[in-house]
Amino acid sequence: MKLKTGSDLDLERYLRDRRVWIDRTLEDCLPTQRFAPGRLHEAMRYSLFAGGKRIRPILAIAALESIGGDVERALPVVSAIELVHTYSLIHDDLPAMDNDDYRRGRLTSHKKFGEAAAILAGDALLTAAFSLLSDRELNRTIPADILLSVLHEIGQAAGSLGMVGGQFADMESEGSAGSETISEETLFYIHSHKTGALIRAAVRIGALLGKALPDALSSLTVYGEKVGLAFQVADDILDLEGTEKETGKRVRKDGARRKLTYPMGVGLAESKRFADRLIREAQEALSAFGPEADPLRAIARFVVERKV
Ligand code: IPE
Ligand code: IPE
Ligand code: MG
Ligand code: MG
Ligand code: MG
Repeated sequence: MKLKTGSDLDLERYLRDRRVWIDRTLEDCLPTQRFAPGRLHEAMRYSLFAGGKRIRPILAIAALESIGGDVERALPVVSAIELVHTYSLIHDDLPAMDNDDYRRGRLTSHKKFGEAAAILAGDALLTAAFSLLSDRELNRTIPADILLSVLHEIGQAAGSLGMVGGQFADMESEGSAGSETISEETLFYIHSHKTGALIRAAVRIGALLGKALPDALSSLTVYGEKVGLAFQVADDILDLEGTEKETGKRVRKDGARRKLTYPMGVGLAESKRFADRLIREAQEALSAFGPEADPLRAIARFVVERKV
């Protein structure tokens, strides 16, 4: 993939390399099926190793690289973000929520293992994230105060003031798309929380691990916010224009459930313009950064141009 950053960064290769590092770390950190209950660990691994893009840990790595941090020792911490994300997908697909049958190109967890197992696999992945983040042995070169701030960052982003809050509002709004009473403010709240919060946290975690100075931390925070929101707008657009083969999940489901999405709220063309504007603003937030931030610039573009 050729980049529009003016740099000669090969984004496809950049993403692939980091996916391998993250997968290897997750492989080492998660119990195998040999540990009881085998079926639970099988379910956790089934969803985790189904070919996700790993974009959140990669964003954390790219943020860390943008300020010259050491990636190797950060891998367990950034990989923990993927455990939280995978849990959120398993629960998002449950019959009580989006009721989806396909995810990452295979049957959803509850379709394959049953609902109780899917709920528990999600619970266990979320819990495993905090266990991994607080593992002093695996993270022994990271100062305890930094680990503590990372733990807080991810706890806040994943909970009721972040992702779960957004998911709650998403479910509450279901069926209301098209009604006069839904405001753009609600739409913004849902998207910036259900998806934006964890992506923002991923970028900030990279910054925290690299001991970013206050100016750099606030620029990276703005970047994370814009990219996080754009990511969900792009996901909404993919539900309309994408293919099942590429996205690995059923498409054109949002309309059927009358979900409150950007295309539903402001129209498809305006959603695309909005996503483009967010990406421009994300890149502008990095104006004080040099070529070390080229991967972040390229990922921002990828977020809205992707087909997967
Ligand atoms: C899907 O996330 C759910 C949203 C927050 C839109 P991703 O598009 O990152 O899914 P994977 O991890 O690559 O499967
Ligand atoms: C999911 O949003 C957000 C979270 C999982 C937190 P969607 O419901 O739009 O994601 P997909 O389209 O099922 O991947
Ligand atoms: Mg959902
Ligand atoms: Mg869903
Ligand atoms: Mg979606």
